Amino acid sequence: MEHDSASRTERYKREAAEAAVDRFFLPGMCVGLGSGSTAAFAVRRLAALRAEGRLLDVSGVPTSRATEALAGELGVPLTTLEEHPTLDVTIDGADEVAPDLCVIKGGGGALLREKIVAQASRRVVIIADVTKLSPRLGTHGPVPVEVLPFGWHSQRRFLESLGARVVPRVLADGAAYLTDQGNRVLDCAWGPLDAPEVLASRLSARAGIVEHGLFLREATDLVVAGPRGVEHRA
Ligand code: 5RP
Repeated sequence: MEHDSASRTERYKREAAEAAVDRFFLPGMCVGLGSGSTAAFAVRRLAALRAEGRLLDVSGVPTSRATEALAGELGVPLTTLEEHPTLDVTIDGADEVAPDLCVIKGGGGALLREKIVAQASRRVVIIADVTKLSPRLGTHGPVPVEVLPFGWHSQRRFLESLGARVVPRVLADGAAYLTDQGNRVLDCAWGPLDAPEVLASRLSARAGIVEHGLFLREATDLVVAGPRGVEHRA
């Protein structure tokens, strides 16, 4: 039963990713390639279309080393924000998606590059299976907060003073999880958020907090897949 629902979720992730690539990636585009398991399906779809001789001139900016490695393995051409400071469209996953297209990202720890790439994109398409839909951000899980290793205990205190239950992210062996930039991630559970904009600006104002997983203005579109098929919202 558990297995069935896990494989259904994987199928929905793949369906959302494939529908988004088919609709939003067009010939000649420079695109942002997101991170995580749903975004990986999008990279695989782009590679499959290339194998059919389509979208051969599309190049992508990866949002993590993991995505860079996957795209490289599949022969998807990569580029950089130095070469292309503005991207046509980014397709990326999310941990939680509210009805107004505000999202929480960073479950995979790539939030900083993901936000940089999203903000450099004309259009940001979030791809998700239905389990990611939430009535209010914070209902499903924590907000990841990326902090510099220097002084991170002070950031923990600060986040607790804002009411968060803070869990420093660790690897399976107990070692500190470090992002691609060498920073720590503090997973901050606030529960359902009444005013995510207020929280986001308090987090952004704090020295030592490099970035947070509240993406409140970046997403322009959502492609979500579930038992009723694939739906596009903008
Ligand atoms: C990585 C992310 C991912 O997009 C997010 O965690 C969703 O991952 P998945 O598609 O594996 O559920 O923000 O930093």
